[in-house]
Amino acid sequence: MSVHSEDNRKVTTRRLFEMKQRGEKISMLTAYDFTMANIVDEAGIDVILVGDSASNVICGNTTTLPITLDQMIFLAKSSIRGIKRALAVVDMPFGSYQGNSHEAIASAIRIMKETHADGIKMEGGEEIIDSVKRIIGAGIPIMGHLGLMPQSINKYGSYTVRAQEEEEAEKLIRDAHLLEDAGCFALVLEKIPAKLGTQIATELSIPVIGIGAGGGVDGQVLVIHDMLGLTQGFSPRFLRRYANLREQMNQAIQHYIADVKSSDFPNEKEQY
Ligand code: KIV
Repeated sequence: MSVHSEDNRKVTTRRLFEMKQRGEKISMLTAYDFTMANIVDEAGIDVILVGDSASNVICGNTTTLPITLDQMIFLAKSSIRGIKRALAVVDMPFGSYQGNSHEAIASAIRIMKETHADGIKMEGGEEIIDSVKRIIGAGIPIMGHLGLMPQSINKYGSYTVRAQEEEEAEKLIRDAHLLEDAGCFALVLEKIPAKLGTQIATELSIPVIGIGAGGGVDGQVLVIHDMLGLTQGFSPRFLRRYANLREQMNQAIQHYIADVKSSDFPNEKEQY
């Protein structure tokens, strides 16, 4: 099956906006290294996120909190070398922007200068709005992130669906408008009721990309390791697995081990 876009022009924030206007859904996946980003880009994805979920799937941490700005920059630099067409967005990691807007702008500038990203992503609404405005004022495109915000896991205490109560849903709607008014080019909504996702996508003119926010938003994002079936023990309702690469890799590696042990590898043609 080939769904490779005929349009090989570089995806820009403007083009995402136009996609929303004409009702074309936006596809987004994470990637954290050159080869994976190159494969995802070649397949025709619209947006590649070098997410701080790297803290989990690359570094083996249980939360996104430990990953540092230096580590994110290393991963982003490597990934973005593999991207030709997709819009490349890099997550601002926990601790690189929450302190004050000086710190936030310094972190954002480092990401843009050192990784050649097209934009950054930040978690939060009203609490970080001054930093959002200053960063956008410096010419750096921002994708907002509301709903379940994994960097605040210690505040929530669990990864359950957010904004089920009216008060939290109202704050989320207010924050979404604040981020749009501040100039964010898109918004990620994570793990919220589908009805609320649809409402926000309808009210906002910028693209709203969901992960567990239902089908009424303007696009979808998944963590690549999850959708390819590389990770284990993580199966939220919103996750569709498109492959079982863990099992395929395990079989290939066991095959290799057996060939080495039996001296079947290398054969005559595989040596000099
Ligand atoms: O870090 C990440 O992978 C993300 C996505 C879940 C949107 O923020």
